[in-house]
Amino acid sequence: MFDNNNITTNIDIALAALRAGDLVAFPTETVYGLGADANNPIAIKRVFQVKGRPIDHPLIVHLAAADQLSAWARNIPTAAFALAEQFWPGPLTLILLKQPHVSPLITGGQDTVGVRIPAHPLTLELLRRFESGIVGPSANKYGRVSPTSAQHVADDLGNEVEVILDGGYCAVGIESTIVDLTGNDPMIMRIGAINAAQISAVLSKDVQINFGPHAIRTPGSHVSHYAPNTPVQLLNSSEFFAAINTYVEQKINFSAISLHARPQNLDQNIFWQQMSSKPDEYAHDLYAALRAHDFLQNKIILIEQPPNATNWLAVLDRLSRANTKL
Ligand code: TXA
Ligand code: MG
Repeated sequence: MFDNNNITTNIDIALAALRAGDLVAFPTETVYGLGADANNPIAIKRVFQVKGRPIDHPLIVHLAAADQLSAWARNIPTAAFALAEQFWPGPLTLILLKQPHVSPLITGGQDTVGVRIPAHPLTLELLRRFESGIVGPSANKYGRVSPTSAQHVADDLGNEVEVILDGGYCAVGIESTIVDLTGNDPMIMRIGAINAAQISAVLSKDVQINFGPHAIRTPGSHVSHYAPNTPVQLLNSSEFFAAINTYVEQKINFSAISLHARPQNLDQNIFWQQMSSKPDEYAHDLYAALRAHDFLQNKIILIEQPPNATNWLAVLDRLSRANTKL
């Protein structure tokens, strides 16, 4: 574990750092963000450097209130206001046409910008006092598991980030739902705690989820994202229990993430984690679980696949990306 003395709960320190062009990791209800002043290109460039993220992958602009929307986006459709009204502050990112001043560094050179109002009291206060946008990808190294605590951020980024604002454990635990409103029809680009049915209900129309290849500009849609260093094997229940028998027989070191209780006869040295059977509780614990299992440096992290049902979509999506093609 990285011992980091940049962790603080003091908003004044975070605010001063942002104004000085430093990086500030901030808590949200989804995951921690790696924040920088959205009007400071030098600070934004450092976000990419520290994260190790390709420069053409766009960043979300975090705002304090919906009345700031028109400062960042133009030709805003009524659908955006309807969704904002219903879900902000909350785990929803809207892709809209950008205002001309929005830096191409933020948008990956595209004509669109991603915006969201996060539901975390500390960060909302920080945003209000900052009186502008804060860009922030998840505060992990590129391709790795997102952080859901200040310590996770410290473990990943150490002193490369000047300030880590500690807002406790993230309530949701997986990244926001992203809805692209720049096309003819709204399109979900990443599924999070807010599901397609909830968005459809507000917009009174069907909303598609894009898992396809032209989601390529969203790095979260690359295969093997959100992945621990240890190879992950995601298997349905019967394959999962069969694999356990095989690995025990072959003396292959593994740990297991399951929906079931630990088998009674299993060697006590094998780390077994029983997850909640409720998708939102599972999502809440998922990234901390992946990090804990990764820490053991076993040969394999075995994961029992949750049910193939709509309410598990967001969790299944993250698990399938963590899965290693062995
Ligand atoms: O919950 C979240 O969304 C967290 C917290 C910190 O807000 N942020 C987060 O950021 O997950 P990041 O950068 O790890 O993922 C944001 C995704 C990326 O896949 C990015 O490519 C996509 O949003 N994105 C941002 N702006 C976009 C744009 N203009 N067009 C298409 N995709 C965009
Ligand atoms: Mg991310």
